[in-house]
Amino acid sequence: MPINVRKSRRESTKFSGFCLITLRHHLNEKPCGVKTAVYPGSFDPFTNGHLDIVERALRIVDSLTIAVLKNTTKKGLFSPEERVDIIREVLHNYPQVKVETFEGLLVDFCRVHNTRIVIRGLRAVSDFDYEHAIFLMNRKLLPDLETMFLMSGSENSFISSTIVKEVAHFGGNIADQVPAIVLERMQKVRSRNAGH
Ligand code: PNS
Repeated sequence: MPINVRKSRRESTKFSGFCLITLRHHLNEKPCGVKTAVYPGSFDPFTNGHLDIVERALRIVDSLTIAVLKNTTKKGLFSPEERVDIIREVLHNYPQVKVETFEGLLVDFCRVHNTRIVIRGLRAVSDFDYEHAIFLMNRKLLPDLETMFLMSGSENSFISSTIVKEVAHFGGNIADQVPAIVLERMQKVRSRNAGH
């Protein structure tokens, strides 16, 4: 039936209620109405750019699981377990955020956690091709999965974990790009490596 804007108030409420139910069903919302999402990534290390995305995501969803990839082929600055510890410490004021590691396919992690919303940050157009490829593959694997791309604030749009690691490695100041806890842990790693 076409939408008739002149319908009675009762009928239009019925219609918008139907839309809401359909949307909730589509996003596989929990029965109690809680929207949950997964924010996956390497987070080696967790930067102010990531924090920015977490805070933006929490304006939209009720709870968030940060999923730290256990990449067995790549040795990072921090182990996946260390990253989880660090992120938990950074986000200790956000009880609605859980932090876990994951291996294998992201879609399987989403299935197990019964969520169909993935959050990814976009800093600039240059991120788009990579993100689009991941998005298309994930949709192919799990058609009712939705990926929400959030833009970081301009002050964070140049921050990347790779650049932060490189600058820190050569003794540059990254205090404005990572949370204080991350900075402290990176300094510890640096002095530990310098001692060898
Ligand atoms: O922070 P990153 O490294 O850009 O995050 C990439 C990540 C972890 C989101 C992506 O590599 C991923 O989801 N890997 C899990 C394996 C998977 O599901 N691959 C299919 C989609 S590419």
